[in-house]
Amino acid sequence: MLRGGGGGLELVELSSGLCVRPRFAGRKKIARRGPLARAMGRAATVVDATAGFGGDSVLLARMGFCVTAVERHPAIAALLHDAVACSADPRVNAVRVHCADSCEFLGALRPPADVVYLDPMFPARRKTSALPAKEMQVLRRIAFRCDIDALLHAARNSGAGRVVLKRPPEAPAADCDLVFGGKLARYEVYLRR
Ligand SMILES: C[S@@+](CC[C@H](N)C(=O)[O-])C[C@H]1O[C@@H](n2cnc3c(N)ncnc32)[C@H](O)[C@@H]1O
Repeated sequence: MLRGGGGGLELVELSSGLCVRPRFAGRKKIARRGPLARAMGRAATVVDATAGFGGDSVLLARMGFCVTAVERHPAIAALLHDAVACSADPRVNAVRVHCADSCEFLGALRPPADVVYLDPMFPARRKTSALPAKEMQVLRRIAFRCDIDALLHAARNSGAGRVVLKRPPEAPAADCDLVFGGKLARYEVYLRR
């Protein structure tokens, strides 16, 4: 259930009583030379095609990218839209949020983005998300389905210069063009064909 609280729109999960809203940690140092930044390359525009609660969208916006966040679950998209609008950080306010299926959104996007970023749900073995644990738990329960093959196909056919796919560090090697590994996540890069 969505409800408007003093701090903005929040989601109350009736089964667990958990109450969540996207929260963007403010003071965390941005790793401008870390694996994510290196995977993104010299991009200006990024479509985060699996936006969720926007942890990665906001991280990318704070790195200086012009971010469009696409989330298909209407309640999650509404929460993200509200949290972005209410943020005190102008770089966060600049994130554009769309409620859509990214396979369709990317197919219609003109001009294409420099980068399409994908962060599918992967099994919860350790902390890999830009999100706090409580938010991630709820996201897993209400938006667990993610057809990564369809998303990767749509992203690679969208005309984007590159597609960056976030995966767990222990995932089997993929047939991609570049890999940037970190302790918590691995970023696989597919360059334009
Ligand atoms: C692991 S979460 C993303 C977490 C996000 N990176 C963050 O930091 O908050 C994956 C999200 O992708 C969304 N999603 C899955 N398939 C999608 C699609 N085809 N189009 C748009 N959103 C999709 C799910 O609803 C879910 O919210």
